[in-house]
Amino acid sequence: MIDQTRLPREEVYVTCRDYREVADAIKTMVIRGAPAIGVAAAMGVALGVEEGADFETVCDTLARTRPTAVNLFWAIDRMRTLHASLAGRPREEVIAAMVREARQVKIEDIAICRAIGDNGASLVPDHKTVLTHCNAGALATAGYGTALGVIRSAINLGKQIDVFADETRPFLQGARLTAWELQQDGIPTTLITDNMAGHFLHSGRIGCVVVGADRIAANGDVANKVGTYSVAVLAKENGVPFYVAAPISTFDLTLSSGDLIPIEQRPASEVTHVYGVAVAPDNIGVENPAFDVTPSRYVTAIITERGVARAPYEVSLRALVENG
Ligand code: MRU
Repeated sequence: MIDQTRLPREEVYVTCRDYREVADAIKTMVIRGAPAIGVAAAMGVALGVEEGADFETVCDTLARTRPTAVNLFWAIDRMRTLHASLAGRPREEVIAAMVREARQVKIEDIAICRAIGDNGASLVPDHKTVLTHCNAGALATAGYGTALGVIRSAINLGKQIDVFADETRPFLQGARLTAWELQQDGIPTTLITDNMAGHFLHSGRIGCVVVGADRIAANGDVANKVGTYSVAVLAKENGVPFYVAAPISTFDLTLSSGDLIPIEQRPASEVTHVYGVAVAPDNIGVENPAFDVTPSRYVTAIITERGVARAPYEVSLRALVENG
């Protein structure tokens, strides 16, 4: 996996040789982004089986890495179901099947992202700017991206668009990752600080906002990188459509509302320091929730691989799941 903590200054790859290394890579955000975390977890489970480690310990270790992105738990459950179905089979056969399944999760994720992109492309206004937050691109998935997949597909349709990327304090996924990824693709991109979003949403320049998601509750409330909620409110205030692009594996229909989504709290040092340099006085109190929840009334539509859902989300999200 590419080490996302070192981008954009260095393009370095990390090889995980056991499930603990995969768990560490997820925890330390060497790999991040909901679908990418899911793919990594599936591979981690396969590695654990190959090592002959206790299966429940492998699953628990991977599940305890990050709490908010439901794709992590979705992928572990998928691997657990397969493992249970192989009970009593010869060890070599179990290993081969688990490795095949993990690779399949990765292959499917790329296809899903392409379908999300293609389903969302027509929603992107031509000759306008798309605002995005965090990184919901190829780096956050097995490839192509969710929110950035929509942008890529809109460009493939021939639309003349450019992108505004919020820098996304405190971890700077927008500045470090989205800016890097879109630049690699030659997609015209402008970096703004998070507090500039209102200014530009008011300017008339932004045709739509497209973001990813870490968990979507049954009522359409969306957990995504902290700061997404502010962008959504500003978008609605200024009459700009706010789209969420996510695979069905990001749905958590067991939760009736976003208030029930666990929000990861990250270290204070991410807020007080930038690249190891203190930007705040010592011993200052800090809050660092990694995600916030955008109530569904701010969400114009949710773009998935199976189609586009609109309010009432209680009905439309369930219909997408059941029509699978
Ligand atoms: O903390 P991160 O970088 O893992 O958070 C990532 C996000 O919030 C993304 O927007 C989300 O996972 C969607 S990725 C396609």
